[in-house]
Amino acid sequence: MQITQNIFSGNGRVALPIVPQQSDDPLAGYAMQMLRLRPHTAPLDDVLREMEIVAANDQIPIIGPLEGAIIQTLLKMRQPAPRRVLDIGTSIGYSALWLARGLPDDSHVISIEIDPQRAQMARKFIERAGYHHQIEILEGDVMELLPTLGKFDLILQDVIKHIYFGKSSKLSLQLLELCLDHLVDDGVLLGDNAFCMGEVLHENTTQLPAQVLGIKAYNETIASHNQLDSVILPVRDGLWLSYKRG
Ligand SMILES: C[S@@+](CC[C@H](N)C(=O)[O-])C[C@H]1O[C@@H](n2cnc3c(N)ncnc32)[C@H](O)[C@@H]1O
Repeated sequence: MQITQNIFSGNGRVALPIVPQQSDDPLAGYAMQMLRLRPHTAPLDDVLREMEIVAANDQIPIIGPLEGAIIQTLLKMRQPAPRRVLDIGTSIGYSALWLARGLPDDSHVISIEIDPQRAQMARKFIERAGYHHQIEILEGDVMELLPTLGKFDLILQDVIKHIYFGKSSKLSLQLLELCLDHLVDDGVLLGDNAFCMGEVLHENTTQLPAQVLGIKAYNETIASHNQLDSVILPVRDGLWLSYKRG
């Protein structure tokens, strides 16, 4: 994790760097190698692979194949199968495809993206992968759209590291509250970037950008929440897995 100098340069309010998709841990490499042995599904796996290349070349953050496969498997194991799933932060549609892959054909993914160009790219990839009937992309700000959307069986939150959440460290907690309001009892909340590229280890908070402070507050609130059973899976940049008790 060599990226800290980017965050503390200038006035400390620069965008956070994206997470490398490949870890230099040889065991994480082995896990990736095993993942590549999974039976291939066309056209989905071809499109996902292409998206991984586009993301790497254009520095677009995506959850990557390990997190994707964990999320797909988790969805497959839920009984009854989730009917309505929310993906917060579509980007180019990579996580939405892994979510849809974990669901029966008649379940739906709603995915929210603030950047119209990214949403457009996502629609094209999703169409080519053959999942356009199952995934709906909504363009706009999650803080405005989510209150209009009803309840979900599972929510994947993958936005709090974004520059948008640098406006105030309180935004991450508002988003968490909103997610919990829109999650059914017995539902699952997933959250990416729990480690914030290692920045969460900083004890001295006076110089930390609002995004990092927001993620630290988000983490501590989830960890101690009396309605949730939660754990960080230490995969890539840390994936929160929370179960909401009824
Ligand atoms: C880390 S990327 C999501 C990656 C995606 N989940 C994947 O793995 O394919 C975060 C995305 O959230 C979007 N975003 C940031 N703030 C947002 C907001 N307030 N509402 C909706 N989308 C937002 C960004 O434009 C960016 O594309």
